Amino acid sequence: MRNQELEQTLALIKPDALKNSLTGYVLSQLSEFHTGLIYAGTKVVHVTRMLAEVHYEEHRDKVFYPSLIEYITGRVHYGDKPHRQRVIAIVYQGPDAVKKVREVAGPTNPHSAREQKPGCIRSLGTIVSLREETGKEIGERMDNLIHASATDEEAEREIKLWFKPNEIPPFMRAYSTMQSEELYYFKEDRLLPKYEPGSVCVVAPGDVMWESDLQALRLIQQGKDAPYSLRTVVAKYLLNEGIESK
Ligand code: GTP
Ligand code: MG
Repeated sequence: MRNQELEQTLALIKPDALKNSLTGYVLSQLSEFHTGLIYAGTKVVHVTRMLAEVHYEEHRDKVFYPSLIEYITGRVHYGDKPHRQRVIAIVYQGPDAVKKVREVAGPTNPHSAREQKPGCIRSLGTIVSLREETGKEIGERMDNLIHASATDEEAEREIKLWFKPNEIPPFMRAYSTMQSEELYYFKEDRLLPKYEPGSVCVVAPGDVMWESDLQALRLIQQGKDAPYSLRTVVAKYLLNEGIESK
């Protein structure tokens, strides 16, 4: 059984929370005093389309998916201000981390949140109608201020997606890591064993990686099926590099 003290979850303070200056409120609601959880990692991220798409891949076929990507990348709330398009990503750690952050966040839909759990974070969110140019309503977007992993499995996938091991203190890492002996570059959806102009170095010998990421890269390099896509592994290495993915 996993060490309960090491249970972790990913929370994202979304662009609508940042725009409405609710960051302090969210952090306060999730503070150790209220939840018993401590910070294992935190960073400000300009969310690339690649990261957004991998994060929300389970919703790829839903009608609200395009608006969800625009929302999480900050284009909805800061369309004309790329320098403000960001989220705050946090790894919380402690007993029942997943359940506790979900409880404080509340129901996904802000209207339901207000009815079922007044006072939860998402009760301060809003629902926005999406309209065609003619004004016809074609759907809605849920601006619900915060993301919280739903299960332990989702937490592991999401923490490994958003954070490199060295962004979490060594004794707080909940998942296996490995030191890479290999060198990998990435360019236009391809993994490269050596530098090509325009490529980005993802991993160099000596770097500590999530073990599952390194295993996936090895399989991809050999042309074999890997349990994770290349984009799932490399997305975090391209964050804040100033390189926008397609
Ligand atoms: P997250 O913590 O953000 O993952 O929310 P969740 O786990 O409570 O919900 P889920 O993973 O199902 O959905 C992810 C996000 O998609 C939500 O936060 C909403 O912004 C959006 N979303 C989910 N369901 C709907 C829906 O039925 N309609 C619309 N418009 N948006 C939805
Ligand atoms: Mg979810």
